[in-house]
Amino acid sequence: NAWREKGSVIRVRRPNGLTHWLIIGYDEARAALADPRMRKNVTGLYEILRRVAPEGSVGASEALAGHMLNSDPPEHTRLRKLVSREFTGRRVAGLRPRIEEITKNLLDEMEGKDEVDLIDDLAAPLPVMVICELLGVPFEDRAQFQKWSKLLLDADPSVDMAAVSKQMSEYLAALLAAKRAEPGDDLLSGLLADGEDGDRLTMPELISMTFLLLVAGHETALHLIGNGVYMMLKDQEALDALRADPDKIPAATEEVLRQFGPVGWATTRYTGEDVEIGGVTIPEGELVCVSLDAANLDPAVNPETTRLHLVEDNPKHLAFGHGVHFCLGAPLGRMEANVAFTQLLERFGGMRLVDPEFVPVWRMSFMRGFTSLPVRLR
Ligand code: HEM
Repeated sequence: NAWREKGSVIRVRRPNGLTHWLIIGYDEARAALADPRMRKNVTGLYEILRRVAPEGSVGASEALAGHMLNSDPPEHTRLRKLVSREFTGRRVAGLRPRIEEITKNLLDEMEGKDEVDLIDDLAAPLPVMVICELLGVPFEDRAQFQKWSKLLLDADPSVDMAAVSKQMSEYLAALLAAKRAEPGDDLLSGLLADGEDGDRLTMPELISMTFLLLVAGHETALHLIGNGVYMMLKDQEALDALRADPDKIPAATEEVLRQFGPVGWATTRYTGEDVEIGGVTIPEGELVCVSLDAANLDPAVNPETTRLHLVEDNPKHLAFGHGVHFCLGAPLGRMEANVAFTQLLERFGGMRLVDPEFVPVWRMSFMRGFTSLPVRLR
């Protein structure tokens, strides 16, 4: 709120010394996300980060990080088209029975326990199992690729990013080679096959696309589930209403996305030329973070509240982004959260926070979510 007094487009300095522009107004964020002058390609982004960021805080290598999310049209358009052929609504809808089964198995494990950590026992394993299933990645590999992804995302300056990127790339290359030799009916096998018009992803593109899909699909869904359970347990009236009428769960999920979305400042761009947004001119070559959480809570467009609205016409939100980079996995993320909430409330509707005063610890400023969520089941 102190920031809001300064405006909707402001300049901030992070505790680690990084200075950048931050967009916190809803209309301004929406405009920035749809503006082609706001660029994302990895070469330009890394060049600016190396100039303005503290020593060593650039993450994965350019080859690995040069995926669809870090590219601009026309490259982005081509990559998105190629992956969308395989990442279809039909494929995602077909995953529902498996998501239900995985969730049921995870909840079965909780039976008989008085207390569980909903992050460790549900919110963390479910999305990673689902993404492994979707992509056709062996679930046994998860500890390894999760370790590398976390190191690359955290961009800790004391870690050798080039070495970790190399390990991750080699792992992905071996995985893809094995799939090419023995294709299955999973998404990666589909991506390896020839496209209708002969266009296909090259091996380096496949490696970075697989990296993106592995990373984008689990931490976000993890925090959506964790943040949602937390909000429900903090709002007894909403919890009772959801138990009485589970058809309201999708509306609750949208409200969690609006008020407590997993992506905070993680939407970074840079200005390819001078860009005026909300009456402020951001000069060319500046780093710009669009804060989706701040935009979603902009009092100018959305009521500021901590209650869960359980109505179908929820206030609008930008939790999945906007424009050409709008989240490819939004239907999948929503489905995972809806299944998790439905089964949890059905089986453990009487659950409550172990400590009602429990204040969650945000893992990072650019991802919003909890490291643990201790809950008493009965
Ligand atoms: C992009 C949020 C789940 C895959 C994005 C963006 C946001 C977002 C905000 C755009 C970032 C930007 O413009 O800079 C979320 C949230 C999720 C979620 C809140 C909660 C469940 C998933 C899942 C997948 C996924 C399950 C599946 C693999 C992607 C991909 C992109 C993306 C591939 C890049 C799209 C592009 O560049 O065209 N997501 N995501 N996401 N997300 Fe998600």
